[in-house]
Amino acid sequence: MNGPFSRGVGRDPAAGLRLAGSRPPSLAPFPLPQVYQLLEPGPVVLLTTAEAGRPNVMTMSWHMAVEFEPPLVACIVSSGNHSHRALCETGECVIAIPDQAQAPQVAGIGNCSGRDRDKFADFGLTTVPAACVAAPLVAECFANLECKVRDTRLASHYDLFILEVVKAWIDPLQKEPRTLHHHGFGRFVVDGETITLPSAMP
Ligand SMILES: Cc1cc2nc3c(=O)[nH]c(=O)nc-3n(C[C@H](O)[C@H](O)[C@H](O)COP(=O)(O)O)c2cc1C
Repeated sequence: MNGPFSRGVGRDPAAGLRLAGSRPPSLAPFPLPQVYQLLEPGPVVLLTTAEAGRPNVMTMSWHMAVEFEPPLVACIVSSGNHSHRALCETGECVIAIPDQAQAPQVAGIGNCSGRDRDKFADFGLTTVPAACVAAPLVAECFANLECKVRDTRLASHYDLFILEVVKAWIDPLQKEPRTLHHHGFGRFVVDGETITLPSAMP
């Protein structure tokens, strides 16, 4: 039987995989520990906490939206990080979204711990008091999301926290922010051109 779905079956298995221009498929094994670099959702964000009144900030790229309303965000905050302890103790944080102008700070903040240093001072970032949580906003970032921890059921297995965004801020003066997307080991892609296509999805 012939049809669009049977094309190539029983003949050359690679025929169904041929690309336009009859180029044979190009496939090379990819190292499993680096798969995350292909799936990185981004944007890279800063996560601030305040344990016992002491603010701290870390870089985070492993996060995803979980619900529209109330807005829920899943994120991985490793138990090796000082921020993990602060998040567990306080149940609060701020997700601050930087633009490419903050890229050097983003990389630096993600490569050292605030356990024994003030990363805000060291990397020249300005804290602003938040409305609903003790963790500070970051003035340089174009968006700041005040969050409360809502679910820690997967925290002990995967360091995964479900956060609810309880207050959101944007900086109206930053008109076209370009977010950062991490491709591993200091390589970042900066947001590019915006295209708009017909879609009913919010
Ligand atoms: C680009 C980048 C992305 C990162 N993403 C995460 C992440 O998603 N989760 C995480 O636990 N650590 C992540 N890190 C590592 C933390 O930012 C890093 O361990 C930091 O030193 C923790 O700081 P703290 O000890 O002050 O909490 C990332 C680092 C970089 C540079």
